[in-house]
Amino acid sequence: MSSDSGISAKVLVTGGAGYIGSHTAQQLLDAGNEVLILDNLSNGDRAMAPGGARFIEGDLADRTLLAEILADGIDAVLHFAGSIVVPESVADPLAYYRNNTINTHGLLQACVENGVDRFIFSSTAAVYGDTTLVPVPENAPTLPISPYGSSKLMSEWMLRDTAAAHSLRYVALRYFNVAGADLQGRRGQASRNATHLIKLAVETLTGQRDRLAIFGGDYPTSDGTGVRDYIHVVDLANAHVRALDYLRGGGDSQVLNCGYGRGSSVKQVIGALERVSNRKIPIEMAPRRAGDVAELVAEASRIRGLLGWQPEHDDLELIVKTALDWERKRVGLG
Ligand code: UFG
Repeated sequence: MSSDSGISAKVLVTGGAGYIGSHTAQQLLDAGNEVLILDNLSNGDRAMAPGGARFIEGDLADRTLLAEILADGIDAVLHFAGSIVVPESVADPLAYYRNNTINTHGLLQACVENGVDRFIFSSTAAVYGDTTLVPVPENAPTLPISPYGSSKLMSEWMLRDTAAAHSLRYVALRYFNVAGADLQGRRGQASRNATHLIKLAVETLTGQRDRLAIFGGDYPTSDGTGVRDYIHVVDLANAHVRALDYLRGGGDSQVLNCGYGRGSSVKQVIGALERVSNRKIPIEMAPRRAGDVAELVAEASRIRGLLGWQPEHDDLELIVKTALDWERKRVGLG
């Protein structure tokens, strides 16, 4: 099988042993690409990197290694590696600027020096900060409220300016709430000390936690709990494959929201999990979590129009079921 554009070549996937990077690496292989993964395993899991990929355990901060890799016929870079925990970024901002912004700088520099001119970047809806726009379009003000969001926005700026000065073209995908797992159970979210709702909920269902806290029941939403645009990781991975086809087809640089354009509340997520598991999740109401917005939903039409992206798993029950199946397998219950 080859990608839609019919082009297949060697691509570098940083963070390809992580949650989103490993799902994407699999689809890149399935589309006929040769995949080289660079991951320092700080949060990734070697076992999640697809078997057909070449794996290098190494750090993005190692500029000698980067230069060696990028001098060796790389057609495109898909850059997933980075730190992703918002509260951790508040506690240790410099670590986030190093792992996200400075490492992206080094990678971009190596791309420019070696003539690698296609780049796909993992950005985040966190760049919109405390927005009240529902749904939020790509041209909304970017005012991040965490060092995590700022570190990613700074990388977007570096991409914009690098693309203006050199031949590099890029797609930055602003992820909304990514969840779910590979439908064949090969990989899923394995992050240690996760803070995400669906991950914590499936940890509760598998007996790793006593109860799940609902952070805030007094938001101005239909049931008072926070609303997010949950997107299945397999659909998100496919958006990257599409973005690569788009750049290979000569498309110009883009910043695109990556969500379904539809929100679900915390209580709806819990309800969906209770239905698919046939179990009750012990919950407790808790105060609002600092930095959370009431509702964050993507204005999601541009990515469909530009990349021809067609989500296939826009189904909350499928999202939570695949997350639960993976968690059960991970802890030896599945
Ligand atoms: N929530 C709970 N209980 C929990 C965890 C979360 O009620 O134990 C609620 C949150 O308050 C929020 C919703 O569930 O309303 C989703 O929270 P997550 O932590 O799962 O996700 P966030 O929306 O906070 O985070 C996402 C991305 C981040 C990104 C952030 C800001 O995962 O990478 O959006 O855009 F930075």
